[in-house]
Amino acid sequence: MTQRNISHNAIGHNSVASTAAGSHLRHYLSGSATSTIKTRIKPPPQTTMLTFLLNPFILPFFILLFIKWQFFPPKTTVNPPPSPFWFPIIGNFHQLGTLPHRSLRSLSLRYGPLMLIHLGNIPTVVASSAEAAREIMKTHDIVFASRPESKLAKKLLYDAKTVSAAPYGDHWRQLKSVMVLQLLSTKRVRFFRSVRAEETAQLLKIVDDSNNHPVNLSELFVTYTNNVTCEVVLGRKYGEGPNGKKFKRLLREFLVALGSVNIGDFIPYLAWVDRVNGSDREVDRIAREIDEFVEGVVKERTKKHHGTAENAVDYDNFVDIVLEMQRDETNGILLDKTNIKALLLDAYTAGTDTTATVLEWVMAELLRHPSIMKKAQAEVRAVSGGKTGLTEEDLEKMTYLKAAVIFRLQG
Ligand code: HEM
Ligand SMILES: *[C@@H]1O[C@H](CO)[C@@H](O)[C@H](O)[C@H]1NC(C)=O
Ligand SMILES: *[C@@H]1O[C@H](CO)[C@@H](O)[C@H](O)[C@H]1NC(C)=O
Ligand SMILES: *[C@@H]1O[C@H](CO)[C@@H](O)[C@H](O)[C@H]1NC(C)=O
Repeated sequence: MTQRNISHNAIGHNSVASTAAGSHLRHYLSGSATSTIKTRIKPPPQTTMLTFLLNPFILPFFILLFIKWQFFPPKTTVNPPPSPFWFPIIGNFHQLGTLPHRSLRSLSLRYGPLMLIHLGNIPTVVASSAEAAREIMKTHDIVFASRPESKLAKKLLYDAKTVSAAPYGDHWRQLKSVMVLQLLSTKRVRFFRSVRAEETAQLLKIVDDSNNHPVNLSELFVTYTNNVTCEVVLGRKYGEGPNGKKFKRLLREFLVALGSVNIGDFIPYLAWVDRVNGSDREVDRIAREIDEFVEGVVKERTKKHHGTAENAVDYDNFVDIVLEMQRDETNGILLDKTNIKALLLDAYTAGTDTTATVLEWVMAELLRHPSIMKKAQAEVRAVSGGKTGLTEEDLEKMTYLKAAVIFRLQG
């Protein structure tokens, strides 16, 4: 997996790619696969935007820019794809509405499978057919492989040093290979089977014990994936106990902040809004607390290693593995402390919410489609043959269920 878009393709969100704001748009759209679309996307608040633009200090500025743009449009030598009409400053933001994936689809019906829109100041190409997507994700992969610079990614993701935020290049390639080869290899994934089995049993027990009282699966799925990723990535569970609540709140704030739109990234004239209304400070606080947390995890594991005889240590979680890689100078991989923290933050945050969301969606879709649910249940019963306690080998035989999950992943 050397080229970035291959991973995106594998994940299935291949309907959109773009120039500078590509990954923002991808975030918009990957949001469409989640049930928490409102909090993750934060569409531009249109009414407040309007009040803001009608402000007597802003309005003349806006009008001047409009005149400049109308009569002296920026010169380009390229041949851009068709564009819907856009306003200066806000671009096409006013057309995206609260469900951007739907608005983009209706725009694409009018302007074609490849269109150019403006997210504020940022020209963004939207691909809306498999063919257009292939052009961008495969043919011109390298051109589109980097994410746009974002103030939020800089603040929240170690100066955009994580695999998920780093621009395409040596740094990204090195960290990505650590993640794919060392942390997500088949061998490791198999190694963590016992963690998954234990946590799945715990989850099923909770449902079983409910005695037909309704359970909140959304909540259970989040706790379940948090339990698994914590153990695998961070070495132990963090969602429980006296600090558990605080940790969960912090994670939620982090994901919301990361998924939000920083107005200054799109409309540089308005960068001061984030400063003035306290949003910058809020993001700084979240970044600091997340860093303190990850730092604490690294310290805790480092201490554990110092405390034991070298050969008595089980390197059985991501922290231990990357710390060991850092110590081992023979492997040619140089990991500094920030790289280590970036890897852990990525693996933890990218693995928790996503997995819970997919589980929730599959369950919701199955409930909405009883005939498919019946077939899936019949398959599970047939494969299990009446025994309790299914294993991952059993799962391999459930082709229908797997198809349903993969279908959901691609939705
Ligand atoms: C069902 C679960 C998951 C889903 C639906 C999912 C979805 C996605 C999507 C849509 C992207 C592309 C985002 C973009 O282009 O803006 C992505 C990237 C990424 N995911 Fe996942 N993901 C899942 C699980 C995981 C897990 C378990 C990990 C790691 C432990 C992970 C690590 C990453 C990383 C590092 C990237 C960035 C890749 C790059 O830019 O090279 N994901 N994921
Ligand atoms: C279930 O939990 C989710 C997430 O905590 C929450 O948003 C939702 O309102 C809950 N649903 C019910 C019916 O309590
Ligand atoms: C997560 O782990 C905690 C602590 O071991 C446990 O009490 C809880 O039941 C687990 N939750 C789920 C949903 O698996
Ligand atoms: C500040 O403004 C930005 C951009 O409009 C918005 O996304 C954010 O939620 C606001 N923050 C606060 C704390 O009001």
